[in-house]
Amino acid sequence: YRARSITSSKMDQQTLNVKSPNIANPSRISNIVVGNLDELAKKKAAIRAAGMSSLQVIADFDMTLTKYMVEGRRGQSTHALLSQGSTDYDRKRQELFDIYYPMEISPNIPVEEKTKLMETWWGKSHGLLVEGGLNIENIRQSVEKGTVGFREGIADLFEILDGEGVPLLIFSAGLADIIEEILRQKLHRTFPNIRVVSNRMNFDKDGNLTGFIGKTIHVLNKNEHALEMAAPLHDEEGHSVGSNGNGSSFIKGRKNVILLGDHLGDLGMSDGVAYDNRISVGFLNENVENWLDTYRRAFDIVVLNDGTLDCVVELIQELR
Ligand code: C5P
Ligand code: MG
Repeated sequence: YRARSITSSKMDQQTLNVKSPNIANPSRISNIVVGNLDELAKKKAAIRAAGMSSLQVIADFDMTLTKYMVEGRRGQSTHALLSQGSTDYDRKRQELFDIYYPMEISPNIPVEEKTKLMETWWGKSHGLLVEGGLNIENIRQSVEKGTVGFREGIADLFEILDGEGVPLLIFSAGLADIIEEILRQKLHRTFPNIRVVSNRMNFDKDGNLTGFIGKTIHVLNKNEHALEMAAPLHDEEGHSVGSNGNGSSFIKGRKNVILLGDHLGDLGMSDGVAYDNRISVGFLNENVENWLDTYRRAFDIVVLNDGTLDCVVELIQELR
């Protein structure tokens, strides 16, 4: 789906003219669609007035912070890149992907029905991971070999958020352990302002997977898990439970949100936050003809064609 076919349509006037440096590159500009420019301007003004100390960013991981296409190949999700070290079980999970992924992106399945289907998919695939066995070492190697790349502009985004002291919560229906390994392998430094809330594995002392911690997060129940993020960082016995469950304390008191996602369900990520203003950015990667109208209404800004994170960086620059 080419940008040209969009810019030649009635959406022309709704295309956001992002300020330099992208203004010099019209192909970049046409990747961005804003449904309601006045509304966006109002939200920006309100957040700017409240200041950077009021701001937090909540971002989805797969196909939002990562690219849809990586060097000409379809980018893999954290689940998809994971190789258990058993071709049998990898194949079984791939078969599930082939069945359920088309359902995930289908605009024709009612949300209640789709929610059940997604629960089944996550349940089965996590079951196969435990059943077929997985070692921590498989994770390291899978990330090394996986087809996964960060969206262009991620380094600038992480740097500006860190510089401004703005917390970033990565809220994913993928796998926390894989996300953290990707961050370790692909970033040149660590960022103390980043937390990951996602499906987290439990390992025995030999590094073998024994199960998952807490309730499963799938693409359509992020709204429910938003409240769970309010749970304390420690269990009843005072032991640390990793970075699951610390979302709320991390972002406490920050009443303005920038939300980044590629799925409509990602809009539910901010449900646990009593926010004053929220600017949402939706990355529309496929089925564009069917989804664009819905995305334009649901998200303040829509990024097409696997576009960069530049518009988010520029948004933050405008807000400070
Ligand atoms: O980070 P995010 O919330 O986007 O991660 C969820 C993604 O992982 C889904 O969009 C889904 O396509 C993918 N997935 C997968 N295999 C599974 C479960 C989810 O590839 N077993
Ligand atoms: Mg995603």
